[in-house]
Amino acid sequence: MLEQEIFNIKTEALKNISHSSSIEDLKFWRVQYLGRKSRLNEILKGLKDFSLEKRQKIGPLANTIKKEIADFWEQKNRELERSIDWEKEKIDITAPGKKVSGGHLHILTQVQNEIEDIFIAMGFEIADGPEVEKEYYNFNALNIPPHHPARDSQDTFWLKSDENKGTDKILLRTHTSAAQVRYMEKNFPPFRIIVPGRIFRREATDATHEHTFHQFEALVVGDDVNMRHFKHLAEEFFSRFFGKKIKIRLRPSYFPFVEPGFEFDISCTVCGGIGCAACKKTGWLEVGGAGMVNQEVFRAAGYLPRQYQGFAWGFGIERLAMMKYKIDDVRLFHSGDLRFIRQF
Ligand code: PHE
Repeated sequence: MLEQEIFNIKTEALKNISHSSSIEDLKFWRVQYLGRKSRLNEILKGLKDFSLEKRQKIGPLANTIKKEIADFWEQKNRELERSIDWEKEKIDITAPGKKVSGGHLHILTQVQNEIEDIFIAMGFEIADGPEVEKEYYNFNALNIPPHHPARDSQDTFWLKSDENKGTDKILLRTHTSAAQVRYMEKNFPPFRIIVPGRIFRREATDATHEHTFHQFEALVVGDDVNMRHFKHLAEEFFSRFFGKKIKIRLRPSYFPFVEPGFEFDISCTVCGGIGCAACKKTGWLEVGGAGMVNQEVFRAAGYLPRQYQGFAWGFGIERLAMMKYKIDDVRLFHSGDLRFIRQF
């Protein structure tokens, strides 16, 4: 019975192999007749359960036939390979390619990279700090003690935790300025750094407000750094970023960690300062805050009083991206809407 089956397998296998007209077919038959799960293999694997006499008969027979099928297969394979028309198989390297569609960097990442490149070209180093921050670095070290009214202007996400007691509570940082003292505790002037990063504010969202967004902090400290340096640097940076001449205007303002403090505007990127709808006919666009680093901040960092001076400035990345790419709703950045994302 088993012997007959083995002979039948052989007949069938040789027939199918010899009728194969392509290498693909042939590969299929190899799996069928010689593969791990083929009937022949199963028979060989099952031999151990047979009597000695049966084993001595079936074993060599199955092996011989397996070898015959394999040899026949090899021969047929060589034959088919020889008959391949290699002329036809040649690849036409001049043929137009198929378009492969892939992902790409999110517009915010692209803008962040662009900003970093401009600052690196001007000799800046990139630093960072944690998004989950201590109250100390976000506020106290920046001359914003508890109950200071400036805390109200930055509605804070406080975090619940065992450590969140006493004086060292933790929070989601409300600005990248939180990285200033962290950096200065470990580094001495002169230095020029930027700190790109995500920040959080407990605010209602609308087309121009998000609870989560990104800022860039720049901090330049040395012996005689002053606001003229800031103005020049900012004009240079924004001109490179927008690819056209941009002017800076400072307006006196108050941030506890700078003295004097300013808000700064850039000349309107749409009309160049003449007055249009984008700048509400003023010729200027509000961009961020800046000022000379308050000596109290240097004191918190452990620097000797009056030894150094420097400036700091901060601005939102979303806002810059919105100006450059004419995006009218800040919520689009985190919407995950591919129709938005694929435009950039
Ligand atoms: N940290 C301030 C804010 O988020 C901006 C700022 C940075 C102001 C540096 C002055 C100097 O509003």
